[in-house]
Amino acid sequence: LADGPLRGKRVLVTSGPTHEPIDPVRYIANRSSGAQGTALARALAALGAEVVFVTGPADVPPPGGVEVIAVQTAQEMLEAVEAALPVDAAVFAAAVADWRMASAAASKMKKTNGGLPVLEFAENPDILATVAQMEAGRPALVVGFAAETDDVVENATAKRARKGCDWIVANDVSAATGIMGGTENAVTVIDAEGAEAWPRMGKAQVAARLAERIAKALA
Ligand code: C5P
Repeated sequence: LADGPLRGKRVLVTSGPTHEPIDPVRYIANRSSGAQGTALARALAALGAEVVFVTGPADVPPPGGVEVIAVQTAQEMLEAVEAALPVDAAVFAAAVADWRMASAAASKMKKTNGGLPVLEFAENPDILATVAQMEAGRPALVVGFAAETDDVVENATAKRARKGCDWIVANDVSAATGIMGGTENAVTVIDAEGAEAWPRMGKAQVAARLAERIAKALA
C-alpha cells in the first residue's frame, strides 16, 4: 500500500454499469464505461487507502493495487458491497440499472410467429441509499454520483437529501457534453454546505481532487 493521507483507511468504490439478464444470451445495460470510478479507485489507492473496488462489466481494466470484486447485476453488486463493509468511506460511482427483469428466462427466448415478447420489469435495490441509511455501521462518509441532463444542481441537491448521502458528485451527461464514455468530466460537488462547481478537467484529475477531498474529510 502506498503511503499517504488515506493510509489505514478502508474505502469502497462501486463502478461501471450493471448487466441485467433477459435470458442466457441477452441483457439490459447502459453506456457507463467505468472510467470515472476506476480513476477514483486508482487515486484513492495512490493516497494510501485500502480500496475495495466493486465493478460491473466496464470498458476499462481495473486499477492495480486494489481488491477487485467483479459483478454483473445490481443484486450481486449490493451483496458484494454489504460483504465489503465496514469501511471508512464508500463512493458509489456505478451506473446501476434501475430495473431488472421480474424473472429472467432460463433458456433463450425464441421468435414466435408474429408475437412480440413483453418484458416485465422489477425495481433494483438502491445500493447507495441502502448504505447511506444504515442504522448501524454506516461508513463515516458516503458519496454518491448523479448523472443528470437538466437542472443539474437542483436535481442533485434533491437526490442528496433523498438518498441520505453526505456528498453528491453531479455531472451533466447530456450527449453534447461528450462526458459519458469520454475522457473529461465537469462536476459539481454538493454537500451540506452547498454546491461547488469544478472546472472541466480530465477524469483522472477529477479523481485526484475527489480523493484529496475524501482524505480531508476522514482526517
Ligand atoms: O438515482 P440515481 O441512479 O440517479 O442515483 C445515482 C447514484 O446512486 C449513484 O451514486 C449510483 O451509483 C447510486 N445508485 C445505486 N444503486 C441504484 C441506483 C443508483 O447505488 N440502484
